[in-house]
Amino acid sequence: MEIKLEDLKVLYSEEQLQTRIKELGQELNTFYKGEEVIAICVLKGAVVFAVDLVRHLDMPLKMEFIRLSSYGSSTTTSGKVNAVDIKLPDLNGKNVLIIEDIVDTGLTAKFLVDFINMNFHVKTLKFCSLLDKKITRKVDIEPDYYCFEVDDKFVVGYGLDYDGLYRNLPYIGYKE
Ligand code: IMP
Ligand code: MG
Repeated sequence: MEIKLEDLKVLYSEEQLQTRIKELGQELNTFYKGEEVIAICVLKGAVVFAVDLVRHLDMPLKMEFIRLSSYGSSTTTSGKVNAVDIKLPDLNGKNVLIIEDIVDTGLTAKFLVDFINMNFHVKTLKFCSLLDKKITRKVDIEPDYYCFEVDDKFVVGYGLDYDGLYRNLPYIGYKE
C-alpha cells in the first residue's frame, strides 16, 4: 500500500481533535486533583498529541520521552516490541501517565505497562491514548483514557505516520 497526501480523507478534523483533547485534559485534572504527574510520551507518534494535551493539564508535571518500535515501514505490526530507548527516572511512588498515539494490537501498551510495573512501585499508572483501534486487539489491555475509537483502517496525521510521513498533519486522515 502506498499513501499519497492527495488520497487522504479526513477522519477527525483539527477542531474535533482539539475539542476532545481539551475535554480529556479536564477529565485528567479532575482525576489527579493537583497531584504531581510524570507524563511519559511514547516517541515518535505520541509527540503531537502529548504537547497539546499537557497544555491543558493544571498539576505540577514532568515530561519524559521514550522510544519503542513495533512497526517497520509497513502498515501492519511486526508483533515484536523493541525498546529503542527506555531510560526513565525513578518512578517509585509517582503518578505515571503514559501518553500514546494509538493502541492497535495492544502489544506496545502491554509491554510498557508490564515494564513499568516490573521495575517500579508507582502510586498510580494510567494509560492514555489518542486513538483506540479496539477491533485489532491481540492482547487483553485497554487504555484508561482515549479520545476516539477507530475501526480497522490505517490512519495518519497528528503524530501518526506512514513510512515517516504525515506526522505534521493537524488532522487524522485515512486512505479510502
Ligand atoms: P500495537 O503495539 O500493535 O498496539 O501498535 C502500536 C503502535 O503501532 C502505535 O504506537 C503506532 O505507532 C503504530 N500504529 C498502529 N496502528 C497505526 C495506524 O493506523 N497508523 C499509524 N501507526 C499505527
Ligand atoms: Mg507509537
